[in-house]
Amino acid sequence: MAFPKTRMRRLRATAGLRGLVRETELSAGRFMLPLFVMDASSAGAEREPIAAMPGVERLSISAAVAEAGEAADLGVAAVLLFGVPAHKDEHGSGAWDDEGVVQMATRAIKQAHPDLLVVTDVCLCEYTTHGHCGVLRTDIDPPRVDNDATVELLARAAVSHARAGADIVAPSDMMDGRVGAIREELDGEGFSETPILAYSAKFASAFYGPFREAAGSTPTFGDRRGYQMDPANGREAVREALLDVQEGADMVMVKPALAYGDLISAVKRATQLPVAAYNVSGEYAMVKAAAAAGYLDERATVLEILTSLQRAGADTIITYHAKEAARWLAEES
Ligand code: PBG
Repeated sequence: MAFPKTRMRRLRATAGLRGLVRETELSAGRFMLPLFVMDASSAGAEREPIAAMPGVERLSISAAVAEAGEAADLGVAAVLLFGVPAHKDEHGSGAWDDEGVVQMATRAIKQAHPDLLVVTDVCLCEYTTHGHCGVLRTDIDPPRVDNDATVELLARAAVSHARAGADIVAPSDMMDGRVGAIREELDGEGFSETPILAYSAKFASAFYGPFREAAGSTPTFGDRRGYQMDPANGREAVREALLDVQEGADMVMVKPALAYGDLISAVKRATQLPVAAYNVSGEYAMVKAAAAAGYLDERATVLEILTSLQRAGADTIITYHAKEAARWLAEES
């Protein structure tokens, strides 16, 4: 039945009608807020601003506990921890140090806010002097990240996070076989109940620029295209996700989010797993910059972006806007 019997505008006439038939509803209970936690010895102050991410700061552990508490009070489901260690080395050993910054922050946040989920990013890039996501094979020129040696270290880091009390571990390195290795190591160490959120389809993206400033993880040479995905590839993203499912992933991620909505939806359909979409630093920075210039209404833009990610199939949304968005949603209801 077509026009004039069908009139799509009938159900758009009032707020009540629109609310009645709305397909997607955001809620803070699906948000994850990333936090950058500094090592005490590298922390000059409790909070350090990040130039390209207005409103986001590097936090000392006590500031991270406070920030996590605010997020929890707003109904945000989880925080996602990144470490900014005082010392780096060739192998990124800070990543699996039980007294490392993420491990200490995890314990402190869980103690203060037991119901808030603590998710930990498992990667070496913040801990290596060269800024790559794994250890290097230097016997070849140019050096390449050694996949299998890196996977072992990542598994060690994941166990260390679980031991500190992480509710979910989230490997973001894009090495092959890391999800299986992490699952096996967790199970062997008594953490068979700790879920893995795999950064399955993580693209070599320009949108990570501000993050690398925040975490001090810019590679000192080369780029990440030897392990992160080519933005041109969609089928490959689905393959990556399916492999992670086979290896034991409990949730899968698509990252970045905004330019990859097609893949959020394809990965969801193919895996049937809960899917997380990571609304990354550059996506945050673009909105902040446009809003500051008066070009965009920040609140409306952010809520539209987050809604679009959920509509595409994201069950969980990782966003630096989590607290603000939670506040806006609370005001609306
Ligand atoms: C670490 C990691 C990165 C991000 C999340 N985990 C940076 C990178 O891969 O270069 C990016 C997050 C963001 O831009 O918000 N491997």
